[in-house]
Amino acid sequence: MKDNDKKEHLGTDSSGGSESSKPKSGELRESELRYRRLFEAAQDGILILDAETGTISDANPFIIDLLGFSHEQLAGKRLWEIGAFRDIFASQEKFKELQSLGYVRYEGLPLIAADGRKLFVEFVSNVYEVEGAKVIQCNIRDNTARREAELEKDRLNEKIIEKNEEIESFLYVTTHDLRTPLVNIQGFSRNLAKDLKKLYTLLSKADLPEGIKERVRTLLTDDLPESMGFITGGVLKMNMMIGALLKIARLGRIAPTSASVDMDAVLKDVLGTFAYQLEKIGGVVNILDLPRCSSDTEVVSQVFALLIDNAIKYRKKGRRLEITIEGKVTEDGLVRYMVSDNGLGIEDAELEKIWQVFYSGHTADPGVEHGEGIGLTIAKRMVERNGGRIRVESKEGVGTKFIIDLPARK
Ligand SMILES: Nc1ncnc2c1ncn2[C@@H]1O[C@H](COP(=O)(O)OP(=O)(O)OP(=O)(O)O)[C@@H](O)[C@H]1O
Ligand SMILES: [Mg+2]
Repeated sequence: MKDNDKKEHLGTDSSGGSESSKPKSGELRESELRYRRLFEAAQDGILILDAETGTISDANPFIIDLLGFSHEQLAGKRLWEIGAFRDIFASQEKFKELQSLGYVRYEGLPLIAADGRKLFVEFVSNVYEVEGAKVIQCNIRDNTARREAELEKDRLNEKIIEKNEEIESFLYVTTHDLRTPLVNIQGFSRNLAKDLKKLYTLLSKADLPEGIKERVRTLLTDDLPESMGFITGGVLKMNMMIGALLKIARLGRIAPTSASVDMDAVLKDVLGTFAYQLEKIGGVVNILDLPRCSSDTEVVSQVFALLIDNAIKYRKKGRRLEITIEGKVTEDGLVRYMVSDNGLGIEDAELEKIWQVFYSGHTADPGVEHGEGIGLTIAKRMVERNGGRIRVESKEGVGTKFIIDLPARK
């Protein structure tokens, strides 16, 4: 080792004072040098302390660079006398804990470097014995970049949530306000229809040339009512869409509650509402094991109702409808529920679209009664607002399976 290399660490002989005076065998010396090199080249900070007093006896170049303290500032000082570590070992409680447990570990520990830089480190220390004396080795890994990236991610997530809330509130206000002019259009359309009838009666009494009378009659009985029909149809459709958007926007305004959900009771209730329909079409529902989840009971009921409604609506004619509902606890602390049917299935190309608001498929299938195309949009938002996920697997002509993951416990 070169002389100036030696200055990079606190010049102590790690083999211990009295022992160092003894002549060392060549092998021992070589092994010591090898370990010394590892200590010096380590890309983690290493501090060696006296386990009785907490005094720093050695520090590798990495920790000196990282913290920016000079050798003098570290040498012979107790850990809690150094600014960077003052907070952790302030009460010396932690040091006592380390002395008794022989091991402590902190993640994301904030340290302030000599120049005021804020660092986040992982700090692991172990107590062990070297030639009869107890020493503490502290390994300090610089996780500042990772921690900052995590903080940035949290900040961005918060921003996204904030923006989403803004959009939801905007959606609610605009859709709500759109209702007012729509009510006017609806009302005045009805007035116009009445006025057309009055005009028709007046026309018979009017003294007009027959050619003109005939032309006006056609306008009053065919052309104008046809246009009125389009206006009324459009208004009804718009009213339905505004209603659906309001339903979705309202979801964002209700904070979900969380409780242990008795799934058997939920399914019993939900299936009760479909009992008539199921009996009429001869459908069967198999309920297998259903573990409890931690969620909003009302929300879970609605999600299952929307899925069962779809399974019934998109059943395959000529095949007895069979719905299977089952659940299991997953390794990552979630409960996974599956709702499978043997219905029409969904084309691969449509699988992404079914979650979109107002999307309705199977329009070409005869005898399929359509809804507003908002059921799955609502189900997805509800599940996600309850900390879960929903996805679909389907094979056209064979059947569909909805997979819902919800937290198992709070
Ligand atoms: N179990 C299913 N089997 C086959 N297709 C399905 C199934 N569930 C949903 N789909 C398809 O996904 C589309 C969207 O479903 P969603 O529940 O959002 O709307 P909808 O059922 O058309 O109307 P709404 O639920 O608002 O009354 C459906 O129109 C249908 O094409
Ligand atoms: Mg639906």
